[in-house]
Amino acid sequence: MFTGSLLAVLAVLPLLAEAASSSPSRIWPWTRTPQEKRQTKALGAVLAGQQDLSTYYSLIKQYPDILLQLPNFAGVTLIAPSNEAFNNSHEWNPDNATLVTNLLQYHILTGTVNTAALVAGPSTLQRTLLTNKAYTNVSSGQNVVVAKQHDDLTVLTSGLGTRSTIIEPDIAFTGGFIQMVDTLLIPPVRLEITARDAYKELTAFLGALYSTGLAEEISNMPNITILAPRNTAFQSISSSLSALSESSLRDVLKYHIIPNNVIPSSGFLNGTTLSPLLGKESKIFITQIGNNLYFNRAQMLQADILLANGVLHMIDNVLSQNASDTRPDEESKTQPPVFAQTGLTSTGTRHPVPYTSFLPCTTEGCPVSTSTTESSLTAKTTVVSTRSSSALAGRVTGLGMAVVGMGMGMGVMGVV
Ligand SMILES: *[C@@H]1O[C@H](CO)[C@@H](O)[C@H](O)[C@H]1NC(C)=O
Ligand SMILES: *[C@@H]1O[C@H](CO)[C@@H](O)[C@H](O)[C@H]1NC(C)=O
Ligand SMILES: *[C@@H]1O[C@H](CO)[C@@H](O)[C@H](O)[C@H]1NC(C)=O
Ligand SMILES: *[C@@H]1O[C@H](CO)[C@@H](O)[C@H](O)[C@H]1NC(C)=O
Ligand SMILES: *[C@@H]1O[C@H](CO)[C@@H](O)[C@H](O)[C@H]1NC(C)=O
Ligand SMILES: *[C@@H]1O[C@H](CO)[C@@H](O)[C@H](O)[C@H]1NC(C)=O
Repeated sequence: MFTGSLLAVLAVLPLLAEAASSSPSRIWPWTRTPQEKRQTKALGAVLAGQQDLSTYYSLIKQYPDILLQLPNFAGVTLIAPSNEAFNNSHEWNPDNATLVTNLLQYHILTGTVNTAALVAGPSTLQRTLLTNKAYTNVSSGQNVVVAKQHDDLTVLTSGLGTRSTIIEPDIAFTGGFIQMVDTLLIPPVRLEITARDAYKELTAFLGALYSTGLAEEISNMPNITILAPRNTAFQSISSSLSALSESSLRDVLKYHIIPNNVIPSSGFLNGTTLSPLLGKESKIFITQIGNNLYFNRAQMLQADILLANGVLHMIDNVLSQNASDTRPDEESKTQPPVFAQTGLTSTGTRHPVPYTSFLPCTTEGCPVSTSTTESSLTAKTTVVSTRSSSALAGRVTGLGMAVVGMGMGMGVMGVV
């Protein structure tokens, strides 16, 4: 049985070598000299020589079919967790074929990522082989966020804000590169869980979706981009919002959803427009001023938060379809909301967060309190540290940051 699997792997390895050498369209940075290419070894030989990747290698041998699915691209990138990364994740069963197959597929990027050729700065999204609908509704392949930091380390961000640092970069094999990481990638999960367990600044937006009956529809819709105002944005205009009818509020929320298009932060182009789910020819206008990106006049705060069905960008104000002609004032550091700020507005987690009473309760002690997000959203799983709000700058947080075990990631994937 084991020998059979090993033979299958060995049979696949020449395929990989061929995919690499016969492809006519080499994508830069696929620029190896013929001599370098002769020195590059096949995957099996490279993995066998990497002590810290023995767990990964044994999984690949146990599930050789994954390699058969490798597309005929100019190259692929295998994200290979170190033995320690596997040791640190628990509650999973290496003999669960469905689980391991989907997880390993999420660890294969379609295209070569050579960290030596990356420029420090904004993040990009890289497509993976994960397409199984039980695990993702990004139909062209779920994504991983790749960002090279100014200290030269490259960090991959996956579901629930999990950060995996590449600790041994650019290990070449005949089919592309292996990137050794210190933490397993977690396939992105649904908005409900992402907001509950990792990005608590999104609970007002999620609560508003529940209050208008949109939550499930939005979370099941394939290939979407969400512009989600943070809690403070809802707090600061809570009187204006509560004056809206339910159908007006639903329209406001639909104006924040871009259907049929997973748009990474790198895909927002100055002076272009987006077509929201609201329809009726509504548009959102994109402005870039320096490094700041604005939707109408709301500023992007945190880019590229991955969801099971697309990507979410956090913004600092609630958008209104009736104010689509507002633009940022270049002279001003912050832009005012487009809704009136009437009455006393208290922001921050110590103050009531609008709409959080609509969130379904997840533990005993329901009904949930409306006063703080912390008390109303006690997650049934370990809470992941939220990222700093300066994610655009790609702050270094070191190896200790990503604390999620794979068991947790799988547990919240909605399949257990
Ligand atoms: C992983 O765990 C095994 C079994 O507990 C142990 O023998 C091994 O040294 C650990 N490896 C690393 C890299 O932590
Ligand atoms: C994908 O969408 C379908 C509905 O079309 C839903 O049943 C499934 O749970 C979704 N998958 C994920 C991972 O959210
Ligand atoms: C936008 O304008 C329409 C028509 O005047 C109104 O019904 C709706 O409530 C307004 N929505 C918002 C968010 O102001
Ligand atoms: C999702 O997007 C991909 C490409 O971005 C496209 O090929 C696919 O048809 C889309 N699926 C749906 C259901 O919109
Ligand atoms: C974006 O477009 C506006 C209007 O054309 C222009 O003033 C601004 O400089 C552009 N921003 C960038 C970063 O190029
Ligand atoms: C495999 O893992 C999935 C996801 O965690 C779970 O739903 C399924 O029941 C597991 N199957 C077995 C045979 O343990």
